[in-house]
Amino acid sequence: MNVIEIIIKKRNGQSLSAAEIKYLIDGYTSGNIPDYQMASFLMAVYFQGMSLAETIALTKAMACSGKILKLNGLKGMVIDKHSTGGVGDGISLALAPLVSAAGLPVLMMSGRGLGHTGGTLDKLASVPGLNTSLTGSQALKQVRKIGIAMIGQTAELSPADKKIYALRDATGTVENISLICASILSKKIAAGIDGLVLDVKCGNGAFMPDLATAHDLAAILKAVGKKNGLKMKVLITDMNQPLGKAIGNSLEIKQAIDVLQGNGPADFMELTLALGAEMLVLGKKAGTGREARKILQSLIANRRALDKFYLLLKTQGGKIQQLPQARHELEIKTTARGYICGMNTREIGLVAAMLGAGRQKKEDSLDYSAGLILHKKFGDELRVGDPLASIYYNNETLPLKEIAQKFIAAIKIGKIKPEVKYSLIYQ
Ligand code: URA
Repeated sequence: MNVIEIIIKKRNGQSLSAAEIKYLIDGYTSGNIPDYQMASFLMAVYFQGMSLAETIALTKAMACSGKILKLNGLKGMVIDKHSTGGVGDGISLALAPLVSAAGLPVLMMSGRGLGHTGGTLDKLASVPGLNTSLTGSQALKQVRKIGIAMIGQTAELSPADKKIYALRDATGTVENISLICASILSKKIAAGIDGLVLDVKCGNGAFMPDLATAHDLAAILKAVGKKNGLKMKVLITDMNQPLGKAIGNSLEIKQAIDVLQGNGPADFMELTLALGAEMLVLGKKAGTGREARKILQSLIANRRALDKFYLLLKTQGGKIQQLPQARHELEIKTTARGYICGMNTREIGLVAAMLGAGRQKKEDSLDYSAGLILHKKFGDELRVGDPLASIYYNNETLPLKEIAQKFIAAIKIGKIKPEVKYSLIYQ
């Protein structure tokens, strides 16, 4: 087989065989196919798309690029959750310990930030000392012992996704439903889970801008997940404004602690409970969503979920007392009065990246304490001088004026209160 022929075939809109896809993925994972050829292939997929059969083959080839874990000896089904990516979407940080406290074993494999969105792995890495590069057997041992492990892709587990994920991030090839589907499901299949609750994000801060494309992504995820024997539940949720208040790695860890203390932002709490309830029902820890919510709420009230989060961090070497804090804080104030009637969420994600919370290149290191805390969101009333957000940073050479202007430009202010009611969960 010839890699250039495979790229040309896809560039010309032809279908690839499972053998060709496997050849490409194995070659890239082993280092025989260079970044530039894979980047070219990804761009061809971005423009030409892939059929369901090709997406199934891609997911399989990526899952089989490393070991597939066998989660023997765990009490109960292993149900995971994954989001297709958003701004301020640190839900997994609170949700994983919460459902683990409810008795569901959790082995969550997550990724780094992608495009303008944050990644659970980067958020976890903001806790000094925390190791997310556990081997499969270490992760499994930990789940048997404390009921939870949160890890990233490694050379052993999902190595193809580890490399392709970073390459897509740096080459503008994230927003394709087959690439997103294969990336998410290959990790989950490799982690050996039984079921998956997917949060497909939809809106101006998501990779799927509207309901039609979000439905397309949901459909392909369901089809490929089921084909691989996974129990699946897919929610489509809003990303037309950031979730919660915090955007940035250590800021989102702090917010997760607030959530587990019952003091998180309302939208964040609601989505955590909604996704958690789906996980408990799928994992047969509750008969109905209502019963599941009650269980989850009681685990927040009695602090068992918070204790589980601290135990997870400590077991993986994290020192939460040393969570970094930015040296500088700047309040961005509004000069207009009215109501927030829109937020350009992608631009807000890019503001966080400019502060140091995200990458421009694969090898960029992050400023873990950089980011934003939003003080106002959709529908809120504004008076001149009201704080819109606080930005946190360490790098004194940042173009702060430009960053503040970019943030202000991302907030649409109208004279009258928006009539549409904010909808968090579409279905
Ligand atoms: N999450 C992933 O793991 N991969 C994607 O491509 C998008 C979201």
